[in-house]
Amino acid sequence: MKAITLKAFGDIDQFELIETAVPELASGEVLVKVKAIGLNPVDYKTRQGKAMAKKLKQPYILGWDISGVVEKAPTESKFKVGDEVFGMVNFPGCGNAYAEYVAAPESHLALKPQNISFEEAAAAPLAALTVYQTIVKYAKIKEGDRVLIHAGAGGVGHIAIQIAKSFGAYVLATASAKNKAFLEQLGTDEFIDYTAVNFETEVKDIDVVLDGVGGDVAEKSLKVLKKGGFLHSIPSPAKDLSAIRNDVESPWILVESNEEDMEEVAKYLAEGTVKVHIQQVYNLEQMGEAHKQLESRRTRGKLVVAID
Ligand SMILES: NC(=O)c1ccc[n+]([C@@H]2O[C@H](COP(=O)([O-])OP(=O)(O)OC[C@H]3O[C@@H](n4cnc5c(N)ncnc54)[C@H](OP(=O)(O)O)[C@@H]3O)[C@@H](O)[C@H]2O)c1
Repeated sequence: MKAITLKAFGDIDQFELIETAVPELASGEVLVKVKAIGLNPVDYKTRQGKAMAKKLKQPYILGWDISGVVEKAPTESKFKVGDEVFGMVNFPGCGNAYAEYVAAPESHLALKPQNISFEEAAAAPLAALTVYQTIVKYAKIKEGDRVLIHAGAGGVGHIAIQIAKSFGAYVLATASAKNKAFLEQLGTDEFIDYTAVNFETEVKDIDVVLDGVGGDVAEKSLKVLKKGGFLHSIPSPAKDLSAIRNDVESPWILVESNEEDMEEVAKYLAEGTVKVHIQQVYNLEQMGEAHKQLESRRTRGKLVVAID
């Protein structure tokens, strides 16, 4: 099979498209013939030797989000050969997803909803699971909550807006001016152009913040939260936020593969509660170009690599 490996951690010139053996299955795994790979910022951070780098095994193969067709499954599996599936494979850990075939624990996969493409399915898992595990499962958002989403146009943010709206929340979201119409189409009630406005002086009484930017933005977000509110700043934490304000909850959560949560994500997509926006679809040979865009941190929605 074809796979993209890294000669060493570093820049995109370390990518190498190679022929390698189809992976063997361990207990509880199925073999997926990959149709599409979803890219996430953790992919480029790991490529650079950060994030999940220590978890990869040689030959280093990046990637966690996939969609595809079950090629091999043990008889006791919940899937059968030919099933169309998608999921986030072994996160945090070694997903080995930049390949034509992936050995995936069946508990990390769900059936692909029929109403969405393989590209849309591959784009969803890590970002949608992040939203689900932070603001739905942990913060338990509810109707009428004031929810502030930083990086509303990003992979995580644009899904967070849709899920928060589905709960009846009042959604405020930040992005640059070019993304105003996009965020409003997704249901944003108050658009904040972070290049023109200091959100921390304009916004108050927030119940839940989902921050996809981190750093200063996380610290400033503490100021706009109600007592008892939640701050989920999802990039790696720079500081202990609870030391700055202890009358709010500010846990750092790392998304993880989870069977029940993946079923919830599949439901959101099947119902049309969440529609994933894909900025661009690349092919395997264009992985370096796709990573350049990913690293720009200016992507609207998601980037996907399709395999013919
Ligand atoms: N803890 C976890 O488990 C977890 C899970 C998922 C993601 N993450 C992390 O969360 C971060 C966001 O992930 P993502 O996939 O959403 O990233 P992404 O898709 O790369 O985000 C890109 C978006 O960020 C926006 N942006 C950049 N700077 C901004 C700022 N200062 N204020 C507001 N918006 C800004 C851009 O909008 P404009 O073009 O309009 O500027 C762009 O649309 C990444 O660091 C990722 O690694 C962590």
